Amino acid sequence: MMTNNSSLANREEVYILTPYDGVHFGGSARPKPEELLPDGKQSLLALVVNTTSFYNDGNVIPYVKRAVSKKVPVFVVASDKEEFEIESFNESVKPIVEAGAIPLGKTNLWTIDKELKKILVSSNGLENGVIEAYSKLHKPLLDIGETQKIISFLKDSEPIDVSKYSYCNYAFWKAIKNSPNYSSLAQAGEKASENILTPLLEQMKDKGILDYYSMGPSPKIDKQLLAKAVQRKQTICYHAIDTSKHALAENETEITQFLEQINPRWKKYVQIVNEIPQSFDKVHVGSNACVSYFGGQMVNQNDFFRNASKMFESNGILVADTHLHSAGGDNEQFWKQIYDIPEEKAMFAHALGLLFPKLAESNGWHVAIEYEKSNPDRISFQLKTEKDIVIPLYGPTFSVIRANMTERCDGLAYLLSSSDKPREVGFSKKYNANEFFSEASDNGFTPVCQKAEKIKIPNNANGSVMSCIFYKK
Ligand SMILES: C[S@@+](CC[C@H](N)C(=O)[O-])C[C@H]1O[C@@H](n2cnc3c(N)ncnc32)[C@H](O)[C@@H]1O
Repeated sequence: MMTNNSSLANREEVYILTPYDGVHFGGSARPKPEELLPDGKQSLLALVVNTTSFYNDGNVIPYVKRAVSKKVPVFVVASDKEEFEIESFNESVKPIVEAGAIPLGKTNLWTIDKELKKILVSSNGLENGVIEAYSKLHKPLLDIGETQKIISFLKDSEPIDVSKYSYCNYAFWKAIKNSPNYSSLAQAGEKASENILTPLLEQMKDKGILDYYSMGPSPKIDKQLLAKAVQRKQTICYHAIDTSKHALAENETEITQFLEQINPRWKKYVQIVNEIPQSFDKVHVGSNACVSYFGGQMVNQNDFFRNASKMFESNGILVADTHLHSAGGDNEQFWKQIYDIPEEKAMFAHALGLLFPKLAESNGWHVAIEYEKSNPDRISFQLKTEKDIVIPLYGPTFSVIRANMTERCDGLAYLLSSSDKPREVGFSKKYNANEFFSEASDNGFTPVCQKAEKIKIPNNANGSVMSCIFYKK
């Protein structure tokens, strides 16, 4: 999808296909796909598909396919009602995404054409423009369960997980990864992971496993794994799983460019399966598969091994890395050096601002990073309020609550009071080896290989990252 700027600037229109075209409200009839996107002429800047769970419009697929074939980016947005039925919405949007559209969730339909135009016309090439549009305009949809958790978060200070919002704009995550101390942790993780790639391919071959699922993919690691498979002439089907379109796009570009350089005949051994953006819990791999969580995904999840275990039926390989304490030393001081940094605070503050627009407009709150002794210990990211802030329950995030107000909440707004206890919005677990392996074995995973690397922070090597291969019969 490469175009230069001059040709982009010549394209004017962002066309919005709505389910009501020519059907309701006296809307004008849609032009046919070949009229909207004629041969030999590139006039559309982007196509936006507005979809609703109440009107399943299969007729949009030919438009999406034609636009994609003509290198016109297609975005799909949810209209105002989707949170009632996110499952059916996801079902209706799936074929549109499979045809090549980029899901933007609950983006504002009334302003999207102007916003897209502004971003795409001023971007450095279409591909960059699409990524920028995604990071600026994507607003994830929440299902009812997630919305209820948010109510408990506001009402009762229960923890929530804002990761769906924190990686919308990948620049925040990259800034963390490149920050001085966190980069030492990331490098240790990469090194540990690299060291298990050959044993992993051997295990996969030994167990007759071809399918490899990379959860929250790490292109630096995955490209090396696939290059090794090509060198070994070992067939592998690669599935990248992420809710973030960014992560998937960047991952695929980095991997395919690398494999091309290594061996132009790589496709003989490596098949890259085209997965749509989806969340980990939507994936069920059944039997004979390898699932990898490189890059510390497991430390940010509760019940990691239990959930991973549900994903497999039999003959499964699980790869996970974890953050470990080394013996002695001040763990709190060590981990806080890595996490208590402006880049982490910025990512969480941005995520909270997306989730609660009112918070984004207010001052008198901040993100605190604490170390908590627990089983295992954890770094905890918390919202702390220094003054009273009222969060209204309306607007895009909360249309579901409006619809069923009496059942789900007892007011129109919640007061975040300065005297409230802090509210957790994310965490990162820090294990000792015993805690880690006993959690794994309680869920039926046997370790078959592990490699640890020290995190090299000047004068303070008190922790490591360990990559592990587990087998489940
Ligand atoms: C911390 S980044 C790590 C990326 C990569 N593994 C690395 O080490 O650079 C986490 C990635 O996982 C994705 N992610 C987190 N939770 C997810 C979930 N439940 N389902 C799908 N993707 C998820 C995010 O979108 C993000 O791209």
